[in-house]
Amino acid sequence: MKTVIYYFTGTGNSLAAARKIAGALGETELVPIASLADTPGAVTPAADRVGIVCPVYDCGVPVMVARFAERLDLSGAEYTFAVVTMGGIGVSALHQLDRILRERQGRKLDAAFAVKMPGNFPPLMRSVPGEKCGKTLGRADRRLTEIAEAIGSGRSVSPGFEPVSWLMNTLSYGSLAKSAHNAGERFLVSDACTGCGTCVRVCPAGNLTLVDGRPVWGRKCEICCACLHFCPTEAIQLHVMLGTEGRGRYRHPDLTVADMKAQRGASGENRS
Ligand SMILES: Cc1cc2nc3c(=O)[nH]c(=O)nc-3n(C[C@H](O)[C@H](O)[C@H](O)COP(=O)(O)O)c2cc1C
Repeated sequence: MKTVIYYFTGTGNSLAAARKIAGALGETELVPIASLADTPGAVTPAADRVGIVCPVYDCGVPVMVARFAERLDLSGAEYTFAVVTMGGIGVSALHQLDRILRERQGRKLDAAFAVKMPGNFPPLMRSVPGEKCGKTLGRADRRLTEIAEAIGSGRSVSPGFEPVSWLMNTLSYGSLAKSAHNAGERFLVSDACTGCGTCVRVCPAGNLTLVDGRPVWGRKCEICCACLHFCPTEAIQLHVMLGTEGRGRYRHPDLTVADMKAQRGASGENRS
């Protein structure tokens, strides 16, 4: 049985989850959603089993993922699933994906799963030191083994209901979805910037350019915070809520700059 998994990641949790599931299922193609962001029309996977793996943002899904789901033609799929990775709460992101697929494609999710992984939004979630982070990743790995087994056996799994997640989605996801693309205005660069261009290379939205050796954000930010977490000198700060100074940086231990650059596919090849 052939599987396609479409994924989006800012700091590697969702890519690690997608890779783990792919490894367990076998014969699975991993396709970055960012590589399809600038392509027109419907996306029609040639696979029996189709999944989406992505992070939770404000108890919903990243804007790029929501737009992608609207274009995903699942008429040929026998089994569909979604897995969201999150710092704490967010199963309403799965309800959001299910709703989009029902409304746009007349097709529901057969199975929906959430998995807790280290949080990567420093204005609210302080990055935790190695040992604690390792424990969280160990638990996530075991949960992903169960998820892969459920998917492999074609089980129907409902996402469940979390009142707090529903409330947060209702109260704050709308404003995130409306303002995300302009969030670049909230990132600031300090004199610690060396102009190395790592932030440009890792942005899955292709939203950064270097101007006079300094990053400049455009108007298609997804607030994934990859630029901030990958900056080798911690020169990038995000000025919302508690800010990001001294709040640590995170990336999944298996994630590389090349993985991030690959997310943009061919459309990212001309970037520095
Ligand atoms: C803008 C933003 C909003 C977030 N909102 C939530 C949230 O509502 N609930 C939650 O549990 N985690 C939230 N997180 C944390 C991520 O969902 C979590 O760390 C995820 O595993 C990151 O996946 P990635 O490494 O694939 O990007 C948020 C992260 C970002 C950057």
